[in-house]
Amino acid sequence: MKRVLLRNMDTPNSRELDVYISSGGYSALRKAYSMSPSEVTEEVIKSGLGGRGGAWYPAGKKWQASRETNKTPRYLVANADEGEPGTFKDRAFLEKDPHMLIEGMLIAAYAIGAKQGYIYVRGEYPEGARVMEAAIRQAEERGCLGSNILGSGNNFYLKVYRGAGAYVCGEDSALIESIDGSRGHCRSKPPYPAAVGLFSMPTVVNNVETLVNVPHIIERGAQWFASIGSPKHPGPKIFCLSGNVRRPGLYELPTGTVLHTLIYRYGGGMRAGKKLKAVLPGGISTSLLTSERLDVRMDVDDLAAAGSSMGSGGVIVMDDDVCMVHAAKRAAKFFAHESCGKCTPCREGTKRMHEILERITDGSGRESDLELMRELGEGIQETSLCGLGGSCANFILSTLKYFRHEYLMHIHGTACPEKAA
Ligand SMILES: Cc1cc2nc3c(=O)[nH]c(=O)nc-3n(C[C@H](O)[C@H](O)[C@H](O)COP(=O)(O)O)c2cc1C
Repeated sequence: MKRVLLRNMDTPNSRELDVYISSGGYSALRKAYSMSPSEVTEEVIKSGLGGRGGAWYPAGKKWQASRETNKTPRYLVANADEGEPGTFKDRAFLEKDPHMLIEGMLIAAYAIGAKQGYIYVRGEYPEGARVMEAAIRQAEERGCLGSNILGSGNNFYLKVYRGAGAYVCGEDSALIESIDGSRGHCRSKPPYPAAVGLFSMPTVVNNVETLVNVPHIIERGAQWFASIGSPKHPGPKIFCLSGNVRRPGLYELPTGTVLHTLIYRYGGGMRAGKKLKAVLPGGISTSLLTSERLDVRMDVDDLAAAGSSMGSGGVIVMDDDVCMVHAAKRAAKFFAHESCGKCTPCREGTKRMHEILERITDGSGRESDLELMRELGEGIQETSLCGLGGSCANFILSTLKYFRHEYLMHIHGTACPEKAA
């Protein structure tokens, strides 16, 4: 597939507005301004664009819901928090193609009726935040952003908001709290941000990758987008391939690409002499797939049927040197550290989960710990306030399901695959 989203990544000076314009930039915005806001929204609904931040909620439907509140002001936020381990696609746009994001936001803002937007950039991406700020200045100076955009009479003002490095602030309601000036704690939903968001007003939060698709949908039409990849969740998708493969990196491929193709044809397969042991198809919040499931298509429904999920497309490949118990412990440590602490199941449960895994890797675990972990993990998933608790046990419980023997090896003091390697 010819690259659409990543097409400017290798172009020299791709951050510059002139370079973006010379590759066709801002023609989609002109076209959008010749349509009514509801026509733009309809086109995005017809395209089937699903949110690339992990939940795959239809973007156009979210825009419509915020507009239908009839409350103003409405806000638009680009979620560039990108905290999911294994995901590094949004960074590429911030640092190398900032104007594609700005154009996507301008079109979305027009459809929603938002005059103010924010780009929420994670604290660990200072370069991305700096490049975005420079691009915003450039777009304002050239009449592509701010007041009377391209002489159309439309206004849209954009600001970069830097996060402080908390994973939970990628969750849309915690992100809103953070911009609002409060602690990054998730909110109980409903109401959803599209109805009650930033400053209690309707707010659309979309992932960076979702937004960069928008100019291409307007330019080429909904039908073009809908014909790429899986019929129910179509379009180009950026997969972040990492771990023990020969060629890690970003790969733009149609949704529905077979996992084996991604790892072996594009990623060059495993490092020399190593066998694939497990894959996390959507970051560490998803359940692992074993080597028998590489025939799965990278599609929301197919991955759900295989017992996992697509998440935001962070494909982490693990070879047979990786001890699944240690990998689970590292994930548990991450979630215990990143829990915002607002709800008890997640605040306490993630810590207890980490303690149990530490006990097992220290050699003082018991067989009964395995059942305790399962009960605890399922309890956190079912009773937590937000998706952090809802998904934190996926990977850990899947290691227990597929690699129970490795837990027993630790508990009974026999070999650990990582120490043996
Ligand atoms: C703990 C947690 C972290 C999240 N982190 C991100 C993130 O870094 N970037 C992102 O776009 N969405 C993230 N999300 C999903 C957002 O809540 C939200 O669904 C998304 O930004 C909506 O955009 P989309 O519809 O375009 O995907 C996260 C969700 C949870 C529960």
